[in-house]
Amino acid sequence: MTYKINIENTDKFFWHRYDTIYNDELSHLENVEKIVEFGVFKGDSVRWLNRRYPDAKIYGADILPVQVEWTENDRIEYHQLDQDKISDIQSFFEKTENSIDLIIEDGSHFPQHQKNCLVIGMDYLKAEGIYILEDLHTSHPHHAYYIQQGKTKNYISPLHLLLFIEHSMSNNIEIQNDKIQELTTNSLFNFEEIKNLIDCIKSIKIYRRSTLPKKCYNCNSSDYNYHNLKCKCGADIFAEADSMTAILVKK
Ligand SMILES: C[S@@+](CC[C@H](N)C(=O)[O-])C[C@H]1O[C@@H](n2cnc3c(N)ncnc32)[C@H](O)[C@@H]1O
Repeated sequence: MTYKINIENTDKFFWHRYDTIYNDELSHLENVEKIVEFGVFKGDSVRWLNRRYPDAKIYGADILPVQVEWTENDRIEYHQLDQDKISDIQSFFEKTENSIDLIIEDGSHFPQHQKNCLVIGMDYLKAEGIYILEDLHTSHPHHAYYIQQGKTKNYISPLHLLLFIEHSMSNNIEIQNDKIQELTTNSLFNFEEIKNLIDCIKSIKIYRRSTLPKKCYNCNSSDYNYHNLKCKCGADIFAEADSMTAILVKK
């Protein structure tokens, strides 16, 4: 059976509208040999990567076993793992043997899982490689996942930490150990993890969608109610904690 390659099928494009950003950012990557994506779902993004990088090895990781609609060829490998388990993520990356050009983390979107993949994944990325942390808005204090995951309020999530690092970099502030220590209190990150991220990140861009989705994720309609910025099915189309992605480049 063949499946149509239609990137418009993925919420990356019809909902989050990351397409322009990704085209701009990915244009800096040359000779891409190795790509990892967490979160395969129906396989649309892997199909897009397969077409965009016809010579690259692509590793798709998901809690799901291989699904019939997932594209298969000798450049694509699927791995079943749970982003909640550090050992799963670690042994997955060991199989990729590092020097990864591009990591896209589009899995469960739980802040703890975003953190697990980020702190391990950055070690396996090659210099000048790109790490895309999609749906970073689930780490926003107003998002249900952030609220649900936290044992306490106002904990440091990937969003908080990346905002801090970006802010320090853009202000040329040299980050001191006591500041790092402060960020380990009520935090998903320990001292070493924060220090390692600071040391290996060359640049950070954080985007938030400033327009409406092309169509509703819930009902597929684009017939919106502009008075309350909801789809007619009731879904929020312009929520504060929505459609954020971070693009990190490694030193
Ligand atoms: C948003 S979808 C991925 C969409 C895909 N990247 C695309 O653009 O077409 C999220 C995927 O994360 C997977 N997932 C959910 N929880 C997970 C976990 N704990 N570990 C690994 N994958 C998980 C789901 O099975 C689902 O396939």
